[in-house]
Amino acid sequence: MPTEQKICEIKIGNFSVNSKVSLSPLAGITDYVMRKLLREYSKTCLLTTEMISSEALVQKQDTNISYSDNKESPVSFQIEGHKPELMAKSAKILEKKADIIDINMGCPINKIVKGNDGCALMKNPELAKDIVIAVKETVNIPVTCKFRLGWGLDTKNFIEFAQIMQSAGASAVTVHARTRSQMYSGNADWKELSNLKGEIDIPYFANGDIDSPESAMKCLEISDADGIAVGRASMGDLSLIYRIEEYINTGKLLKEPNLPEKISMLKKHLDSEIAFRGEETGIKFFRKFYPCYIKNIRGGAEYRHRLVTELNYKNIISILDEILLNEKN
Ligand SMILES: Cc1cc2nc3c(=O)[nH]c(=O)nc-3n(C[C@H](O)[C@H](O)[C@H](O)COP(=O)(O)O)c2cc1C
Repeated sequence: MPTEQKICEIKIGNFSVNSKVSLSPLAGITDYVMRKLLREYSKTCLLTTEMISSEALVQKQDTNISYSDNKESPVSFQIEGHKPELMAKSAKILEKKADIIDINMGCPINKIVKGNDGCALMKNPELAKDIVIAVKETVNIPVTCKFRLGWGLDTKNFIEFAQIMQSAGASAVTVHARTRSQMYSGNADWKELSNLKGEIDIPYFANGDIDSPESAMKCLEISDADGIAVGRASMGDLSLIYRIEEYINTGKLLKEPNLPEKISMLKKHLDSEIAFRGEETGIKFFRKFYPCYIKNIRGGAEYRHRLVTELNYKNIISILDEILLNEKN
């Protein structure tokens, strides 16, 4: 009997992901609520948590772990830090909830790199290697790393760095196709990532600037990557990752959600954050999402201003209804 053919499968160590698409970790964004909502669209994509500070987790100051109900699989938990022992301890705490442990080696922000965490590890491959070895020795699930092209434009070391991570035991890598010095400026250089092909034996995910099924396909072609990671663009469209998967798997371009559909997604997302965090905190937390859901609308700047300064739930719903009415007329 022929076995059923899977459309796409990426082997990450002993774990299989039946999708070429992963959700890129976004601190303060890809929380439990957003991951759960995304899962309603895509049953197969690899979800990733926001980065979890190893120091905070081990000192029990981080409650992120309770944000999972074990129904998120496939899910990767990302840890952040630079002390091998603490990273290993935090990976152990998270192991029960996670299918994969990912290590943050790409975060560019000052607060993180000044403590030798995040992208600073690209300047210290020996320490990065020790972290992977320590985590790998401690957990029985695959360990992956996420990093950038390098620290500066003149010091791109992602190929050598990926090889070192592989030799330390990493089962896959995700590379944001920018350097730390670029932060988020310019365009992600997908072509540069194609230089990884043949240089490592583990899968690599290309990341940066993917915002549609078409750009996802283009990125896969140009980077020659095994998979892709989608971050910011998923913020205002919970269906994007699913639509990308459909395009990759079947060539079908599903319709983009229109404004009424986006507002209905927004309301569900807002309601879920409120249910999870309580009304006042949920409403405040949600402010960053409005601009993503209501892009390119008439009078957008004014509506966004009103929404981000509004704390009353009923008034928020009225503003959203007003936006719909305004677009109809
Ligand atoms: C608000 C924000 C938070 C982020 N948080 C994380 C994080 O926790 N861990 C991480 O590895 N990368 C983080 N990133 C980087 C993204 O995962 C991703 O690499 C980057 O945004 C490029 O991909 P994109 O163009 O698809 O967004 C963050 C980016 C943004 C904008």
